[in-house]
Amino acid sequence: MKPMKIKDGVVKLGAVHFERRLFDSLIPLPAGTSYNAYLVEGSEKVALIDTVDPMKLDVLMEQLNDVPKIDYVVSNHSEQDHSGSIPFVLEKYPEAKVICTPKAKTFLMDLLHIPEDKINTVEDNERISLGGKTLRFIHAPWVHWPETMFTYLEEDSIIFTCDFLGSHLATSELFAEDECLVYNSAKRYYAEIMMPFRNFIEKNLDKIKNLKIDYIAPSHGPVYNKPQFIFDAYNSWVYDDPKNIVVIPYITMHGSVKAMVDYLTAVLSQKGVVVKPFDLTVTDLGELAMSLVDAATIVVGTPTVLAGAHPQVIYATYLANALKPKTKFLSIIGSYSWGGKAVDQLSSMITNLKVEVIPPVFIKGLPKEADFKLLDELADTIVEKHKETNIK
Ligand code: FEO
Repeated sequence: MKPMKIKDGVVKLGAVHFERRLFDSLIPLPAGTSYNAYLVEGSEKVALIDTVDPMKLDVLMEQLNDVPKIDYVVSNHSEQDHSGSIPFVLEKYPEAKVICTPKAKTFLMDLLHIPEDKINTVEDNERISLGGKTLRFIHAPWVHWPETMFTYLEEDSIIFTCDFLGSHLATSELFAEDECLVYNSAKRYYAEIMMPFRNFIEKNLDKIKNLKIDYIAPSHGPVYNKPQFIFDAYNSWVYDDPKNIVVIPYITMHGSVKAMVDYLTAVLSQKGVVVKPFDLTVTDLGELAMSLVDAATIVVGTPTVLAGAHPQVIYATYLANALKPKTKFLSIIGSYSWGGKAVDQLSSMITNLKVEVIPPVFIKGLPKEADFKLLDELADTIVEKHKETNIK
């Protein structure tokens, strides 16, 4: 990727990783990703804001071939996909200092063995002048690590947010032109990375709401030249009430749970509820996470294996609990042959969710007429709960 100019003296560097399909050995990347670094040149000093995942170090180093000096390497976030190439940049520019929050200093020393004397920490709202370009550092903890900060380029009204407001989207375009495509990637990113830190996101959105911002330059995905687009999206994901949606992650082994899920899906749909069933044997967990952003209710469906829930249901429940969506209600449906503790097991795993648990429907074998009646009652209860809590 060639450097791309955003404004005079401000270019986007970094690498687009079109072919990457998994992040942190956990997160699916159906649209790849990018690691954006930015070069800001003042009349006196030059700053590099964030670097790239070391997998793409060669791309960054080639881009720096024509850059004779770097005075500051700003590290907005210590995770290695942005900081991992800092040691190599320091090797090329031995006079450069790393700029980061006090908390990030220990991270960079521990994770990358950057020498302490190479690091200058900055306080919240501290400024550094590059000569006609002023960098202001805004502490923004917990998006999504405790040490994160934003860098605001005052003269050009550009905010560099690293992970925050970003998207795992590999694109050769500088700006977010295809808003529909970017919206989906940004929502997936929010669901997987940011949603567990919703309270901190509120604080950090509030912190920058009065800044004049013409461009948002994250370190994943395209730059936003119409910042309101992504602010509106985040405001909706963070603040809006959940919607009239039921998400059903499930596993079926011999068809009993599938019969229950199909029946419940049909009944709820007839009652005007949007239902999103996810067969966990083929589910992209990012899609499941995205659906949790808006869902008012989760119904977990499981067969009984080794006296408990199916391991893939346990995994999905663990993730849902870790992601802390705004969901208000949860129930469990499932089937057993001779007993088991699947309901107790799953119920004990949702301690992070502020949900009201609707009584489960756990049946023996294939559902019978009486069991379908229980599913009718479950559907009625869900509809009633949604009405009572004004969910639309
Ligand atoms: Fe893109 Fe938290 O690293």
